[in-house]
Amino acid sequence: MSPDLERIIVDRERIAARVRELSARIEHDLASDPISEPDDSSLVLVPVLTGAMIFVADLIRHLPRRLRISAMTASSYPGTATRSQGHVELGEMPRHLAGQDVIIVDDILDSGRTLAAIRDALSALEPRSLRTCVLLRKDVARAVPVEADYVGFDIPDEFVVGYGLDYDGLYRNLPDIGVLREDKR
Ligand code: IMP
Ligand code: MG
Repeated sequence: MSPDLERIIVDRERIAARVRELSARIEHDLASDPISEPDDSSLVLVPVLTGAMIFVADLIRHLPRRLRISAMTASSYPGTATRSQGHVELGEMPRHLAGQDVIIVDDILDSGRTLAAIRDALSALEPRSLRTCVLLRKDVARAVPVEADYVGFDIPDEFVVGYGLDYDGLYRNLPDIGVLREDKR
């Protein structure tokens, strides 16, 4: 474990096992959709950068069907803030989502502002379906009503890093997800 972590919340083995399960669930749901065909290429994953990059990279390697990735950026935790700031800045919108089966992939659902802002922005682009997948869901009251269709783990209200999640841009490379030591924040 990294010396900067106080403790691990979800270790790499549990992450890997759960990511496989989520991919299987997504594949199952798409396969049971009477309109979508297995060789259809209507699936577009929209990872929210930078936090979701490792998650989406692992997720897609268990999704055998044809798919596209169209990343977008969003930031609600500028720099060293460890609480959501209330304002979400969205980067350039992905194009060609009309009529597609779109799944937003984010690292963590906290106040819900990020996911709600992205969901609303993407639904205006008229996808055929729009779903959301998050690796982590924090046990806090959401500032805005938003639910995720696929959730990896429910975690307590603590600031976590690793597996894509950062503090001031650091720790995304840690393979486990853990709580940052107090003296490192
Ligand atoms: P929300 O808009 O408050 O739901 O925040 C979601 C975004 O804030 C996520 O996409 C993360 O980038 C960031 N975030 C929320 N909680 C944490 C955390 O515990 N560690 C690192 N980033 C977090
Ligand atoms: Mg993020």
